Amino acid sequence: MSEPTIDSVRNILVVGAGTMGRQIAMSAALAGYTATLQDISPDMLKAAQADLAGWVAGRVAKGKLDPATSRSSLARLAFTTALETAAAAADFVIEAATERLDVKTGIFETLGRAAPAHTVLATNSSTLGSSKVAEASGRPDRVCNMHFFNPALVMKCVEVVRHPGTSHATAETTLELARRLGKEPVLINREIPGFIANRLMGAIQREALALAEAGIASISDIDTTARSALGHPMGPFRVMDMVGLDVIDFIAQATHAETGDPADAPHPAVTALVAAGKLGRKTGAGFYEY
Ligand SMILES: NC(=O)c1ccc[n+]([C@@H]2O[C@H](COP(=O)([O-])OP(=O)(O)OC[C@H]3O[C@@H](n4cnc5c(N)ncnc54)[C@H](O)[C@@H]3O)[C@@H](O)[C@H]2O)c1
Repeated sequence: MSEPTIDSVRNILVVGAGTMGRQIAMSAALAGYTATLQDISPDMLKAAQADLAGWVAGRVAKGKLDPATSRSSLARLAFTTALETAAAAADFVIEAATERLDVKTGIFETLGRAAPAHTVLATNSSTLGSSKVAEASGRPDRVCNMHFFNPALVMKCVEVVRHPGTSHATAETTLELARRLGKEPVLINREIPGFIANRLMGAIQREALALAEAGIASISDIDTTARSALGHPMGPFRVMDMVGLDVIDFIAQATHAETGDPADAPHPAVTALVAAGKLGRKTGAGFYEY
């Protein structure tokens, strides 16, 4: 079987046309790759196509993208519901479908069967290590996490996570592809819940919650300190409100279930707000009122 190399990557398949998948596919098209966006839902594909056309038009209107590049990039993007056909033509696959193990396992089975031997199969999952889907693909050495951040067209970080069987060539090809998409990738050598960014974020949030709970400072002063002393664009309480307190609570539950570490358990202050229906910005109230 031929080893994956960056030079063989021309056609990129992105599976799942939601929040993440559509922007990852657009990043690939902007970088000069042909990109196919696949979803089981024709409605999602239509919505993604309209959304990306609008995004590109906005960039052109602001003078950030020239019209010729915008046209050629959109022309390199294809939309389909046919996974097997798209996989057969793909040199690199980034799976960004719904965060459910059964969904991802089914996709990796199909990809493993249909994609050429040199094709890397990466998952954008935030919480499922690629070892969970590697065997289903029948080519575990060509599988890894390639974790983008939201919004994927803007955020530079990509966490490339190896599982114990990921080959050196797979990790290197994935890192180099991320660079060619204009990203700043990092390599994580072992699967660990939360990878790096979400672990750092979790630690900051935990400390912020502990400081507030102990009455050391108000939440707004803690947020101000994160901005004015540490240079964070937003303090931890504002970030939690923006992400959604239900999401924060769910991540803590999932991480705690996996690690058993009491430090990872959901914080009672967050759980109480969720129980009161205060989920953050999206419900008009969380740690702050909106
Ligand atoms: N939203 C984020 O902030 C974020 C950030 C980083 C990583 N992620 C990860 O990206 C992945 C997608 O997240 P999202 O927020 O874009 O989800 P989303 O709900 O916006 O989109 C998921 C898409 O997957 C499609 N889908 C479901 N089953 C499918 C199947 N069998 N085949 C093809 N498509 C299928 C759905 O129709 C939907 O369009 C998840 O693994 C998530 O952990 C999300």
